[in-house]
Amino acid sequence: MNIIREIRPEVYSVGAIDWNRRLFDELIPLPDGTSYNSYLIKGSEKTALIDTVDPPMKNVLLNHLEQLGIEHIDYVIANHAEQDHSGSIPYILEKYPHASLVTTPKCKGILMDLLSIPEGKFITVSDGEILSLGDKTLEFIHAPWVHWPETMLTYLKEERILFPCDLFGSHIATTDSYVTDEGQVYEAAKRYYAEIMMPFRSNIQKHLEKLKNYQIDIIAPSHGPIYDKPEFILNAYREWVSGMPTNTVVLPYISMHGSTGKMVEHFVEALAARGVTVKQFNLSVTDIGKLAMALVDAATIVIGAPTVHIGPHPNVAYAALLANALRPKARFVSIIGSYGWGGKAVEQLQAMIPNLKVEVLGTVIIKGYPQETDFAALDNLAGTIAEKHKEHGFV
Ligand code: FEO
Repeated sequence: MNIIREIRPEVYSVGAIDWNRRLFDELIPLPDGTSYNSYLIKGSEKTALIDTVDPPMKNVLLNHLEQLGIEHIDYVIANHAEQDHSGSIPYILEKYPHASLVTTPKCKGILMDLLSIPEGKFITVSDGEILSLGDKTLEFIHAPWVHWPETMLTYLKEERILFPCDLFGSHIATTDSYVTDEGQVYEAAKRYYAEIMMPFRSNIQKHLEKLKNYQIDIIAPSHGPIYDKPEFILNAYREWVSGMPTNTVVLPYISMHGSTGKMVEHFVEALAARGVTVKQFNLSVTDIGKLAMALVDAATIVIGAPTVHIGPHPNVAYAALLANALRPKARFVSIIGSYGWGGKAVEQLQAMIPNLKVEVLGTVIIKGYPQETDFAALDNLAGTIAEKHKEHGFV
């Protein structure tokens, strides 16, 4: 699909819309497809291309450049080395052999490793360095760990446009240039943040502080629609990276024969009766993107785990490993579940979440189907969680 948009005079969006992609990194569900945004900036003296597209869609980008009559590119700016943005750089350099590849020193090394680009093609830039295109000026802002170590943002001074690559992005395929449905974009951007940015939220906090020094009229990320009201996504990110969780329990669980399921049902009612919001996920059918999004704000994670052989159900182990990798801001954790004759589900699950800086609020692990004393134990745990949330001021 060929859609070229002039987002400001001589500033074009020339990337590709991927309507059909449903999985990213062979892990992350993409319910709404995605886009690989690439931006062409024509200055009075020099022309720059910011980021490219995923290699299977390289012809879309090359066609766009041809349609615009671009015969010469001086600079290809690589904000990020991951292949969905960098993978078509070799094709661009082949078509525009005089172009230099502009990036951070760290990104240079990664691009040489990933794409076998010769060292002589690179110009490395330091944090705050300026590149003049004549009547347009680019400033490079080093912003490591969003979400790789080499990442930078590019700022077009005259038009006050920030090109942050993955940061602030969303996986949405749309023909709209700008955000038109804030609800849809909020959900998609939060899913995206949860899946790849959340582990680096302390780095992102620092980058958000740094961005306060820039006047930004437009944020043009490399996935999803462009923000012409930047405060919308900046405010959302400020909330997501803040250390303060909400009065919410996330409860991923699975039940094989109904015992853990009955415990979860009772426990969710007990928490709700105490004013705690609960987000319950049956892991046999859960979209892990939804689970990741719920982890962005939750104060407490309670894992519901039946025992398979002597360990936790493998789907529950997967959710625990995912939570450990995403490093959410949760402060408390607990495990509930049942076993048939014995096992080490609790010990094994606890060993899977070393990255979570949490207080363990006890466990309710029972033999067989829950009885009155087990429901009472769940009520006690619900009371403890509600009290802890209140003490900490989580609302
Ligand atoms: Fe969209 Fe980290 O690549």
